[in-house]
Amino acid sequence: MDALRRMGNKGVLSIENWLNHGFGNSLNPFYHLGSLTFFFFWIVLVSGIYIFVFFETNVGGAFLSVEYMTHEQWWMAGIMRSLHRYASDAAVISIFIHMIREFFRDRYRGVRWFSWFTGVPTLWLVVVLGITGYWLVWDQLAQYIALATAEMVDWLPMIPSSMVFNFLDNQITDRFFTLMAFLHLLGLPVALVFLLWTHVSRISQIDFNPPRALAIGAFLTLLSLSLLKPAVSHGPVVAGHSPMVLHLDWFYLNIYPLADALGPALAWSISTGITVLLMLLPWLPSKKENPPAEVNLEQCSGCSQCSLDCPYGAISMQPRTDGKKAKFEPTVNVTLCTACGICSGSCVSSSPFRMSKTTLKSGIEMPWFSMEILRQEVKQKLAGLSGTGRTLLIGCEHGGDVRPFERPEVATLVLPCSGMLPPALLDYALKNGADGVFVTGCRDGDCYHRFGNMWTEKRIAGEREPNLVKRADRRRIEQFRVSNSKGERSDLGQRLEAFRLSLQHL
Ligand code: HEM
Repeated sequence: MDALRRMGNKGVLSIENWLNHGFGNSLNPFYHLGSLTFFFFWIVLVSGIYIFVFFETNVGGAFLSVEYMTHEQWWMAGIMRSLHRYASDAAVISIFIHMIREFFRDRYRGVRWFSWFTGVPTLWLVVVLGITGYWLVWDQLAQYIALATAEMVDWLPMIPSSMVFNFLDNQITDRFFTLMAFLHLLGLPVALVFLLWTHVSRISQIDFNPPRALAIGAFLTLLSLSLLKPAVSHGPVVAGHSPMVLHLDWFYLNIYPLADALGPALAWSISTGITVLLMLLPWLPSKKENPPAEVNLEQCSGCSQCSLDCPYGAISMQPRTDGKKAKFEPTVNVTLCTACGICSGSCVSSSPFRMSKTTLKSGIEMPWFSMEILRQEVKQKLAGLSGTGRTLLIGCEHGGDVRPFERPEVATLVLPCSGMLPPALLDYALKNGADGVFVTGCRDGDCYHRFGNMWTEKRIAGEREPNLVKRADRRRIEQFRVSNSKGERSDLGQRLEAFRLSLQHL
């Protein structure tokens, strides 16, 4: 499994590299797949409401009302119908890539299992929503779907009477049709909203909207497609006749050719098997994680910055229990904490580098990588630096590997996430043996722990607490973030050398 993930990750990184060149990191669609899917759902909702106005929810009128929209009111209802269809297809594509990406980037196991586990049924729900949508057109494709669904459902042992003959005789009733309409227009969308709310409930500060330029680009693409290739129906249903030629939407209707070819038993078994396998994936095998963050109340000022910075909503502020003046204290929910260390970087008492002789304790820290351990490591690294352009190179576990750059003039330090870096460390390093500090991490826009890069950048720029002190010479601090691909590690090396050279001219 590890080898598969590593290989897939390489592929994802190279596609994203290519997209970064075309779109720039901030607009790379792969970095906004969740929010893009929400955007596609908005288009589906608005266009769906519009076409519902003209839609007749009965067997006799449905087809003709859709024909009216497509051919007579093509300039509005027809475009809306096409947008409805293409945005639905785009949603399936983005969900699918989102899923594959989270898997290859190894962001689906350990504490993150919940988002994965609740994500899998959303896929099914979206597909069933699409199928009921095609059913509502009540054309020959809908007839095929109805028949094939009936055959599949009939195979299930708990369904008492045969549905299939109803469809063969074209006996579908208005009541049944209304049930489909209810499912498509209300039942399934409400279930989807609930499931999605659950899906993201363990992640904090979610950006539900993609960047504006990306949203506009996505919308214009769908609109162009709608104008160039408007969605059309198949022919009207003819009683007792099965349709001969079908144009399937493979994003939604792929189960039917599978059932045609293999029979309902195998089609059910394959789809159930894949679903169960996907849901169990976070435990095949599970991820070994470091122990969660711990709060040291004596050092905690109750400022709540750790809670604001936590990407997983794992820290909540509760009423103070130690009688101190501060009103609140942080509490860590261990089932949500990924041990990324961002909270200890955000703690104002993480100023290990203030020359204190006593053991350093921060208000919140990683028990296995405390601020004291970090301070000792940095001290030792700085003491070992020699030569010109002495640089402390700080990286993270998920971005470009900094260890190969270690040598007398370059000391390296690896944090679980670049967001664990207390800004005071930079000031300390510059005053205690380093001519410069080079901070790297995951690619911009793609932090493994969501906000590590962003918080570090803002802290250094003085835009987020804890700020890097004003007196720190920013010319001696460089930030450049890359993935761990060979090419980008070489870019990192070049940038590091250029930085070291620039230090000699200051
Ligand atoms: C209807 C479809 C879906 C939508 C709209 C959606 C949306 C989102 C959003 C907005 C996030 C938060 C991303 C962030 O801010 O970092 C997220 C996270 C996540 N999603 Fe989905 N998702 C969907 C389906 C799925 C599916 C099918 C899977 C996998 C089976 C999945 C797996 C995950 C995982 C593992 C995370 C957590 C990533 C992390 O912890 O950084 N999602 N999703």
